[in-house]
Amino acid sequence: MKNKILFPGSSDKKTAKLIAKKSNIEFGKVEIKTFACNEKYINLIGDIKDKIVYIYQTATQNPNDNIIELMLISNAAKLAGAKKIIAIIPNLPYSRQDHLSSKKHQEPISAKLIADLISSSGINKVITVHVHSSRILDFYKIETVNIETVDLFAKVLKEIIVKSKSSLSKYVIVSPDKGGIEQAKRLSISLGGLDFAYFEKVRALPNDRINISKMIRFFGDVKGKEAIIFDDMIDTCGTVINAKDNLMRMGAKKVILCATHPILSGSAIKNLRNANFSHIVTTNSTPLRKNYKWIKIISLADSIAEKI
Ligand code: R5P
Repeated sequence: MKNKILFPGSSDKKTAKLIAKKSNIEFGKVEIKTFACNEKYINLIGDIKDKIVYIYQTATQNPNDNIIELMLISNAAKLAGAKKIIAIIPNLPYSRQDHLSSKKHQEPISAKLIADLISSSGINKVITVHVHSSRILDFYKIETVNIETVDLFAKVLKEIIVKSKSSLSKYVIVSPDKGGIEQAKRLSISLGGLDFAYFEKVRALPNDRINISKMIRFFGDVKGKEAIIFDDMIDTCGTVINAKDNLMRMGAKKVILCATHPILSGSAIKNLRNANFSHIVTTNSTPLRKNYKWIKIISLADSIAEKI
């Protein structure tokens, strides 16, 4: 398609290229350099005037650079006369602070600020994947598309279950926190109405390592069952490993992990390997440093290309 061009940020050029190929649109080049103080220099190479410009940039372990690059690329495209700018951000950064905090804390609504910054950088539409909470989409004054991953995970889970010669009725879907209940329930429905359970989790504040969390309550029954944890993101993996340990203590036979965004910071990979999940399924919304045979990756390329 001659009137469209896709530019990749530095987060995942390989997937960006694949999506451009699948959508049959031109793949542009972005010159990205870094000043000594770490500021970014951006230059777009390719014909932009009057074209629909797509920018592919996802959040990785470096979300600050990812978001700044995205906005600079968008600004450059706007100044070069793009007709419309569409950002493909599979893993939307800064999603976890998405509402007004309790009176005890004085926190930002980071997800809203990011939405405002994205719109003000010239982006007209955002395509994202498995957004952390549906309220985040309401922060955008521009068009948004949220690609759900429930059916993609359900397909892989059915294959796993058939292969293990087990029956669906032996499984229970578990959300590791209240925020994930809606998506976990959808997964249970997509698998024919499986049992459903969830944890209530708190972050162990005050602590400078905000990822540390604690399970305080569990609703459901996993005794003698195989549990499937479904979460939007795995960062340190503390949440899902904590949930798994609790499920095993409560009598679950095995635990499968499904999570859409594999951020996998710090020693997450090592911790995940040692946690002995029976299967780990994730997507390529965030690129992994290398291929791990024990992690099943669902490609989002077709689902994203369909929206282009
Ligand atoms: C929490 O609100 C999210 O849905 C994830 O459960 C959490 O952010 C994952 O972080 P970590 O892997 O570091 O526990």
